[in-house]
Amino acid sequence: MKEVLKELERRRSAARAGGGKKRIDHQHAKGKLTARERLEVFLDEGSFEEFDMFVEHRSTDFGMEKTKFYSDGVVTGWGTVNGRTVFVFAKDFTVFGGSLSEAHAEKVMKIQDMALKNRAPIVGFYDAGGARIQEGVAALGGYAEIFQRNVLASGVIPQISVIMGPCAGGDVYSPAMTDFIFMVRGTSYMFVTGPDVVKTVTNETVTAEELGGAHIHTTKSSIADGAYDNDIEALLQMRRLIDFLPASNTSEIPEIDFHDDVEEPDHSLDRLVPANANKPYDIRELILKTADEGDFFEIQEGFAKNIVTGFGRIEGRTVGFVANQPMVLAGVLDADASRKAARFVRFCDCFNIPLVTFVDVPGFLPGTGQEYGGLIKHGAKLLFAYGEATVPKVTVITRKAFGGAYDVMASKHLRGDINYAWPTAQIAVMGAKGAVEIIFRKDIEDAEKIAAHTRMYEDRFLSPFVAAERGYVDEVITPHSTRRRVARALRMLRGKDLSNPWKKHDNIPL
Ligand code: HXC
Repeated sequence: MKEVLKELERRRSAARAGGGKKRIDHQHAKGKLTARERLEVFLDEGSFEEFDMFVEHRSTDFGMEKTKFYSDGVVTGWGTVNGRTVFVFAKDFTVFGGSLSEAHAEKVMKIQDMALKNRAPIVGFYDAGGARIQEGVAALGGYAEIFQRNVLASGVIPQISVIMGPCAGGDVYSPAMTDFIFMVRGTSYMFVTGPDVVKTVTNETVTAEELGGAHIHTTKSSIADGAYDNDIEALLQMRRLIDFLPASNTSEIPEIDFHDDVEEPDHSLDRLVPANANKPYDIRELILKTADEGDFFEIQEGFAKNIVTGFGRIEGRTVGFVANQPMVLAGVLDADASRKAARFVRFCDCFNIPLVTFVDVPGFLPGTGQEYGGLIKHGAKLLFAYGEATVPKVTVITRKAFGGAYDVMASKHLRGDINYAWPTAQIAVMGAKGAVEIIFRKDIEDAEKIAAHTRMYEDRFLSPFVAAERGYVDEVITPHSTRRRVARALRMLRGKDLSNPWKKHDNIPL
């Protein structure tokens, strides 16, 4: 038995050595952890159960039969994050650049199948060069099998991708079909084809960072949902994210202890909205003062900053916050903001996470740039997402709710469950200036008349009361009681039971 155990330990050590000391040193020199080190940081200590450690590739082309490494470039298994089960796979760049062989694909597929069958989140840590070039179509087939599983798991279990090195080809398309992508600044890149291919095909000279670095993907392409300074920070933040997420679409949302009394008024909120309606203020302050302990995990912080999206908790239970941000473009809805928020709303709806929406929106952004860019379709995505969502929806209008944007932002008419407004709310088709110039065009030269019309319009429409008279807002609430009112609303809505008519799937405008 002693010898048998010794042999097992020898094999295990060989597997843990990945592509060898030189390549591991190289990985460390770049500031990156190895696949196994990443899993150690991400999972609870000692919780990792590894599978298929001794799998090797079966390729015999290009002399590959002479070069084999245990685990074949990916470490797979499951473990726990703060006690909750999570399935994981981590690409090992030290073995054939983490590239995907047929055997490597089978390992990932096994984990995907287990995660789906056992209804727990799956997190992939990427650091890989795409299809194993020596394997040809066997690798391509492997990717397609993984993609298919991504699709089937979508909306059933949370799927998260963390990009921690250069990722090309199939190693970007699978993440693209998961719920969230996070990157590490300076060491991670995502592109379908790398800078060399770009140069050959388009004669464009571009660095990996410019083509697909974290900055580009978090601010320009919106492919990534966030970025961190190093591996450790990224891994710890992923643990934090997992704590917010239910295990599956049929699981309860996680509930943790909270320490902020929801009944406690916050009088600083009475001063949040400036007296001048054209002055900005930071809507994040309201989110932080509504969420338990001000704990907010923002999604897509660097992109379309005119809308803020992310997870928080109220009375210990996860909620998704969506809020117009008056600090950026006056909180207007444009194509990017609509896409960003629509995707977030749909994620929350998939996983039964209630939505808390804070509204201060002057409308949709006008202009050829937006219209040519498909604002109609992109704006419709958010409309569609809120309209189809059956989770509890609590909305608070803090200031402007103008035009179509009023409708879109979880209004009563889109099955908003509880719709509140602050006394500072202005719910109308448009602001006073634009409205008066249209309906009193004949008086445009008469400053006195225009001023009188404007005052009349402001008195009648730029308040929450016309909407409240119709029941479109359920109650006009004091700003300082917002956390209490939202918390009570969500408590009441815990038993909400609403479903849409049966369909194969909807046809959201893409
Ligand atoms: C086999 C690969 C590999 C691959 C890297 N390696 N990519 N082996 N197949 N796809 C190996 C290298 O030979 C090297 O082996 C080790 O990994 C490290 O690679 P380097 O090039 O030395 O590292 P680096 O300079 O950091 O560059 C990383 C890289 C580059 C940017 C990922 O390796 C690269 O461009 N690789 C090819 C990317 C690619 O075109 N893949 C195919 C995409 S098509 P040694 O032995 O020296 O350590 C695809 C199809 C699916 O994925 C599409 C589905 C839609």
